[in-house]
Amino acid sequence: MVNETVLVTGSSKGLGESLALIFSKNNYDIILHGRDEENLRQIKEKILTKNVDCEIVKGDIKSYKTIEKLFQVAKKRNISILVNNAGVDYSGSLENTNFRDIEDALEVNLIAPIKLTKKIYPLFSRKKSGIIVNINSVASLNVPELKTIYCSSKKGLEGFTDSLRFEAKKEGIRIIGVYVGGMKTDMYAKTGRDISRCMNPLDVAQIIYDACKKNQSASMDELTINKNIK
Ligand SMILES: NC(=O)c1ccc[n+]([C@@H]2O[C@H](COP(=O)([O-])OP(=O)(O)OC[C@H]3O[C@@H](n4cnc5c(N)ncnc54)[C@H](OP(=O)(O)O)[C@@H]3O)[C@@H](O)[C@H]2O)c1
Repeated sequence: MVNETVLVTGSSKGLGESLALIFSKNNYDIILHGRDEENLRQIKEKILTKNVDCEIVKGDIKSYKTIEKLFQVAKKRNISILVNNAGVDYSGSLENTNFRDIEDALEVNLIAPIKLTKKIYPLFSRKKSGIIVNINSVASLNVPELKTIYCSSKKGLEGFTDSLRFEAKKEGIRIIGVYVGGMKTDMYAKTGRDISRCMNPLDVAQIIYDACKKNQSASMDELTINKNIK
């Protein structure tokens, strides 16, 4: 039997790496993506031990060349699931945020997922199946202070996810919006806040994998993942 393929953007570390590992454990071939070549190579080695296939696409998600490369590999491998995961965090007041950081946040967190989805969507609509998972943040649902630019990008992603779902449902394509709380990843560590009580990204990835599983009559459109309260 031929394995299904999942593409996870930003899978060189953090949640993306955990998603790639969980899907590979469940017999999916993996398309890894990111900019850190050494990390990607090491993750690919781990994935190949699970007897599935794995291909790396290296490149800045802001560049059209990277989007085109991701599309070509996704097409060649008859992709079943696209996970728009690559993301950047920006904190601070608008007054102290420069144009470069504003553009980076909006391009990585919002414009790149829209462009990549637009490229890959016809592959799914042609076969009347496929899943697009957009990794969002609880900061989009409950906006915190001093996250103006990050929240602008993630609120945009929320609107894209919810609106696309209307047209996608008619084509047999599932659109899943995932709203995640604090995780033990580099992104959270860089905020300088206490990371010790954050979620393990492998636990989060397992929940997302379960939400993608096929079911005869019911499916998950949206999920919020927060830490257990002990
Ligand atoms: N960590 C949290 O607490 C938290 C909470 C809520 C939501 N989230 C969301 O979860 C997702 C994953 O975050 P994470 O915590 O796993 O972050 P992370 O550890 O910082 O990993 C981010 C990933 O995105 C990739 N990436 C970033 N900018 C890129 C660019 N310009 N081009 C290509 N790849 C790029 C990175 O690849 P390279 O380093 O190789 O470039 C890396 O693989 C993000 O969408 C984030 O907004 C995270």
